[in-house]
Amino acid sequence: MSKPKVFVARKMATEALETIASATEMELWAGELPPPRDVYLQKVRDIDGLLSILTDKIDAEIMDASPRLKVVSNMAVGFDNIDVPAATSRGILVGNTPGVLTETTADFAFTLLMAAARRVVEGDKYTRRGDWKTWGPMILLGYDVHHATLGIIGSGRIGMEMAKRARGFDMKVLYHDVVRRKPEEEAALGLEYVPNLEELLSRADFVTVHVPLTADTHHMISTREFAAMKPTAVLVNSARGPVVDPKALYEALKSGQIFAAGLDVTDPEPIPMDDPLLTLDNIVIAPHIASGSVATRTKMANMAAANLLAGLKGELPPNCVNPEVLQK
Ligand code: GLV
Repeated sequence: MSKPKVFVARKMATEALETIASATEMELWAGELPPPRDVYLQKVRDIDGLLSILTDKIDAEIMDASPRLKVVSNMAVGFDNIDVPAATSRGILVGNTPGVLTETTADFAFTLLMAAARRVVEGDKYTRRGDWKTWGPMILLGYDVHHATLGIIGSGRIGMEMAKRARGFDMKVLYHDVVRRKPEEEAALGLEYVPNLEELLSRADFVTVHVPLTADTHHMISTREFAAMKPTAVLVNSARGPVVDPKALYEALKSGQIFAAGLDVTDPEPIPMDDPLLTLDNIVIAPHIASGSVATRTKMANMAAANLLAGLKGELPPNCVNPEVLQK
């Protein structure tokens, strides 16, 4: 029997690629940049499985160009780049990679929080510019993280890891979500649930966003929300860029409505070089690397490979976002 055909849309951990290559006829896109759309449409024409990454828009057009497609395995926990209802209606399984990146992503979100609060990147630029002439009592002062109040928006896995890290800094931890966690979970992590978002924003010294991107969370943090925040507040976004309105963020940072921001994600990505946010000193911007440790990216690639191979066999991928496809 001939092997199923798959397209792997970017290079990733060798062990995952070897696993896929041993079970399939694999085509690998070796470029660093994504395949152009017309090339993508052509690559998926006669495949049974696709391993995509979060930059790839996998919509009805891609699915219709790929009549044999059985599974799309996305190497990411987020899957807002995939039209899941379109996949489900075509009987295509969709896999993602939750869990393995939780702690690595929280480590990085906390790094951004501290870097923005204590002006690490600004300090590095200051040093390299040759501005460090002396120690000065008023030079590059920031805000303490310890004993401050952290406001977590979104109480999923990554949000809860932020709460654990905050405890190590003796922070007070507030959280907001549409669903409240169990009382024993709140007690274990010392969490206070704040049902009203504006109340959380007004009380927090640090606000960190951990929600998926959906129609409801698009621009969830915009002008009104910044107006509710403290002038000393720091915003961290390691979720998805469009959760924060970039124009409102620029205004809030520029006018001093908030103190600083740390972003791992932007809207759009990559951030254009003429984006006004890049003119500001009180923002740290990383190129969507929060899950980027060697170990975690290897685990994500292996998980994506396992999802792909299961889907090709007509089995439920170990992490599937539309298991109803097999229940039909
Ligand atoms: C990264 O942003 C992911 O969703 O895995």
